[in-house]
Amino acid sequence: MCFFGEMRMFWWSFGWLVVLGLVVDGGEGYPEEDLVKSLPGQPKVGFKQYAGYVNVDVKAGRSLFYYFVEAEVDPDHKPLTLWLNGGPGCSSVGGGAFTELGPFFPRGDGRALRKNSKSWNKASNLLFVESPAGVGWSYSNTSTDYTTGDASTAKDMHIFMTEWFKKFPAFQSRDLFLAGESYAGHYIPQLAVALLEHNDKSSGAKFNIKGVAIGNPLLRLDRDVPSTYEFFWSHGMISDEIGLAIMNECDFEDYTYSSPHNESDACNQAIYDANKIVGDYINNYDVIVDVCYPSIVEQELRLKKMATKISLGIDVCMSYERRYYFNLPEVQQALHANTTNLPYSWSMCSSNVNYSDTDGNINILPLLKQIMQSQIPVWIFSGDQDSVVPLLGSRTLVRELAHDLQFKATVPYGAWFHKGQVGGWATEYGNLLTFATVRGAAHMVPYAQPARALHLFSNFVRGQRLPNTTKSVLDD
Ligand SMILES: *[C@@H]1O[C@H](CO)[C@@H](O)[C@H](O)[C@H]1NC(C)=O
Ligand SMILES: *[C@@H]1O[C@H](CO)[C@@H](O)[C@H](O)[C@H]1NC(C)=O
Ligand SMILES: *[C@@H]1O[C@H](CO)[C@@H](O)[C@H](O)[C@H]1NC(C)=O
Ligand SMILES: *[C@@H]1O[C@H](CO)[C@@H](O)[C@H](O)[C@H]1NC(C)=O
Ligand SMILES: *[C@@H]1O[C@H](CO)[C@@H](O)[C@H](O)[C@H]1NC(C)=O
Repeated sequence: MCFFGEMRMFWWSFGWLVVLGLVVDGGEGYPEEDLVKSLPGQPKVGFKQYAGYVNVDVKAGRSLFYYFVEAEVDPDHKPLTLWLNGGPGCSSVGGGAFTELGPFFPRGDGRALRKNSKSWNKASNLLFVESPAGVGWSYSNTSTDYTTGDASTAKDMHIFMTEWFKKFPAFQSRDLFLAGESYAGHYIPQLAVALLEHNDKSSGAKFNIKGVAIGNPLLRLDRDVPSTYEFFWSHGMISDEIGLAIMNECDFEDYTYSSPHNESDACNQAIYDANKIVGDYINNYDVIVDVCYPSIVEQELRLKKMATKISLGIDVCMSYERRYYFNLPEVQQALHANTTNLPYSWSMCSSNVNYSDTDGNINILPLLKQIMQSQIPVWIFSGDQDSVVPLLGSRTLVRELAHDLQFKATVPYGAWFHKGQVGGWATEYGNLLTFATVRGAAHMVPYAQPARALHLFSNFVRGQRLPNTTKSVLDD
């Protein structure tokens, strides 16, 4: 396990490449100035972390912040995975990296870190990016840049990827996977298409895309929104009468992302009634876990107490511990973040970004089609306790997409397994399009079901199907 770590030490101590004047670490093509030596209160680990800025528009002064972690073992032979959170306007570093699939979670007092034993860096090198500018520590010196939308977000991410590979040339030709969740159901396919179009035109460097995976993704509003109410209804969260009123009164084909939603008064009333019954005391992103009460937690954090509240095996207060940790100046310094002293504090979802509210209406299925026409596998996965973008809409959309592509079912709908238990249910079409639920998982799939999520991800990056028997070779 330590073999590659020692190899690196060997090169480092000789320092041959440093003598040659190349700014690389041990011949790997990593930028020394972005190396994160250690994060405050971080457990010791054998892999490296890098963080910093990549300018995407020098004239406007627009710069995106990234956090990169090497794979835990054998990083030189593992693929690279880009992960984006959604929102629009939410942080991939705060969300994906530090509360979902990265190597560390905040400790209960918000002043240190603990190890995530199911980190996805067991299967891949991981790159998290704050996108668009205005999210997390990404920023622009031109305030009008904060008025943005899908097209400019994809364009900036395309520039980001090109520039990031200049910092990390060792990864340019590496197998690249693009993944994300929620509104990244827009970001990831749009970026994938931009990179594929680049590949078609470019005689130079290409992006070696090997797969696209999106979890609980917003794909098509007029299917994803009604499935929220169907989920409420099927989980006993609203009455039969209100469920029926929504089914009868709402024409979701005319539903718009922006509010008011272009619906009849009867429909708007039924939706209002439904949301009122569901109430504030439920976590819509995971309807089976308990909620965390902010006022209690914030006081505990101030008093240096552990804010941890375990519900169904997970710390439901983790997001508050993370916010506390990310706002510590020493954490920002260690991450090379916030170098321009941004005039607001760090938060998970940005209130600076003025994101287009019509782009939410864009139908993403044609982009998924285009990606698969380039023979790139697409996985749509879905935590089955999420009411925000529930599996009900995604499953139908995937089937319709398969039909449109004239794909036949290549794996019939059935259970997949992890450690002898059902990890969820899955189906595959045309050997390219996979739909998989994750049993007991939230909107943030790796958060509530870390082991099942890692198992799904490991199979995805190895180009393998999910195991359909209790006896699995790969059980990480
Ligand atoms: C933004 O402005 C600050 C302050 O002038 C400067 O230090 C920083 O380099 C600028 N950022 C970019 C990306 O040009
Ligand atoms: C709103 O609904 C009306 C009638 O159903 C429809 O004609 C119109 O195109 C819709 N507008 C939008 C922006 O979808
Ligand atoms: C950036 O740093 C300043 C202090 O220098 C701090 O007040 C602000 O909250 C920080 N902002 C973010 C987004 O981290
Ligand atoms: C937000 O974007 C809209 C539409 O692009 C624009 O009309 C509005 O002025 C923007 N608001 C701010 C505060 O920049
Ligand atoms: C499991 O998958 C294999 C290979 O794809 C297939 O041959 C087999 O019939 C499947 N078994 C079940 C129980 O579905």
